[in-house]
Amino acid sequence: MNAYQDELRRVGRLMTEARRACVLTGAGVSAESGIPTFRGAGGFWKDEQEVRDLATLEGFLRDPKRVWEWYDMRRSQAKLVQPNPGHYALAEWEQQITTRGGEFALITQNIDGLHRAAGSQNVVELHGNIHLARCVNECSEELIPLPEPPLPEHPPKCPKCGGMLRPHVVWFGEPLNPRIIEQATQAAYSAELMLVVGTSAQVYPAAGLPYAARSHGAVIVEINLEPTELTSAAQFAFHGKSGEILPQLLELAKEEGG
Ligand SMILES: NC(=O)c1ccc[n+]([C@@H]2O[C@H](COP(=O)([O-])OP(=O)(O)OC[C@H]3O[C@@H](n4cnc5c(N)ncnc54)[C@H](O)[C@@H]3O)[C@@H](O)[C@H]2O)c1
Repeated sequence: MNAYQDELRRVGRLMTEARRACVLTGAGVSAESGIPTFRGAGGFWKDEQEVRDLATLEGFLRDPKRVWEWYDMRRSQAKLVQPNPGHYALAEWEQQITTRGGEFALITQNIDGLHRAAGSQNVVELHGNIHLARCVNECSEELIPLPEPPLPEHPPKCPKCGGMLRPHVVWFGEPLNPRIIEQATQAAYSAELMLVVGTSAQVYPAAGLPYAARSHGAVIVEINLEPTELTSAAQFAFHGKSGEILPQLLELAKEEGG
């Protein structure tokens, strides 16, 4: 067995033994489903102006119709994609841990809803979910599932106060919901093992969570196509596609557990 395989097997064993585990995912975990990662070729944003127009509260208030039409387009694209083997492996790992009475949380920066679609249960969505809306006036905290795109009216109306609904996503310049940060931080603090998958580990506060976990004794395992700023702080780092490495780890975990 070479050193790489030996490390995979050691992590497989940790996955079998962990009673409190958490995972942090980023755009990379959905890349193999066909959803582009952040900026760059094939990315979401054409230029900075488009970011200001479509991904800030100011842009939304200036032209809510345009923003909602763009989200219709994104939701239509999202309907065409499916979870990949990486999403399914994480859902299966959660089931294994909860079946043996352990705790598991999947913290994601993604807004595509693919983790839930794959069967993950305890999902903490740091940046919201493209399939949900909420009142722009914050008349309540209720999250409203959106009908199939395209919406019948742009912008849709809040059923409670009649104001505009906005997409339930965190836009540039907006703070994260403190309740959600608290949930994610608690999961990181209590984890014995944390997998960090497909994130460039640059967007805070998400990028701080592995350090929080580590400071409370967690073993950090990074899975990414390439090294990141987190790599040197991780006890294990596997470079490759999460849709291949995660199912491999799960298989090894089953072998180690059986
Ligand atoms: N699917 C989505 O919902 C989606 C997509 C793009 C961006 N975003 C948002 O953009 C922000 C960007 O931060 P981020 O760190 O999540 O993404 P990022 O685009 O900054 O980084 C993606 C990371 O994934 C890695 N990667 C790419 N393909 C991979 C694969 N197949 N397997 C393993 N790793 C792979 C890359 O090397 C990179 O480090 C986040 O706030 C996120 O909410 C979300």
